[in-house]
Amino acid sequence: MRKKIVAGNWKMNLDYNEGLSLFSEVLNMVKDEATGTQEVVVCSPFIHLHSLTHLAKGSAKVSVGAQNAHQAESGAYTGEVSAKQIKSVGAAYVILGHSERRQYFGETNELLAKKTDTVLANDLKPIFCIGETLQQRESNTHFEVIKSQLAEGVFHLDAAQFSKLVIAYEPVWAIGTGVTATSAQAQEIHAFIRKEIAAKYDQSVADATTILYGGSCNPKNAAELFAQADIDGGLIGGASLKSRDFTDIVKAFN
Ligand code: G3P
Repeated sequence: MRKKIVAGNWKMNLDYNEGLSLFSEVLNMVKDEATGTQEVVVCSPFIHLHSLTHLAKGSAKVSVGAQNAHQAESGAYTGEVSAKQIKSVGAAYVILGHSERRQYFGETNELLAKKTDTVLANDLKPIFCIGETLQQRESNTHFEVIKSQLAEGVFHLDAAQFSKLVIAYEPVWAIGTGVTATSAQAQEIHAFIRKEIAAKYDQSVADATTILYGGSCNPKNAAELFAQADIDGGLIGGASLKSRDFTDIVKAFN
């Protein structure tokens, strides 16, 4: 049975103390809430990782992730952070391929394939993001885009490596816009993604893959989204910055 996960993506928000207090609130609120969510992941900026993993030590349910990692093991890459360094502070996950990194930092499927290899080689779990732009959806090329993001980004992996991944479908037109995909739209793409995984590997790998939805997910729409057969949780941006909203989304799995 695949894992139900709610992951928060803080993006470039919260100073050191703000991050500590938000994470402490989330830890306490999630601990007290009996939920269907099996794992809660908080993906913070690098500056928070060590303190959050330290706070999360006692929690069986909450883990910590980074939002990026360089593709090299180490070296002269000023300003970058490696998967090995992320692992060394106790993080478990790394978001890769977020549309904001594809858009603002020119990250290609080819580069993301290399990042995925390095993150896996350092015993971290990639949360690999895919999703189409509004223009691609309106021109009805979104299935093709999703297919190529998978094929060029992660389908070079063997089944054992792929099984370590979490996939996040984030329609770019729903990110930060308040315009959420309908549950039918999201389910259609999630089912397509699962079908592509089954065709590449086999049905058992596909059935075991956690596929998260991201894009204006909030306490009001989470339950309907998470009730869909192929939606296994959410990758939450704005709502993860408010402990009550984020916890309500965690609770949305009945
Ligand atoms: O990675 C999650 C993020 O892109 C979704 O953002 O603010 O629409 O929940 P938001």
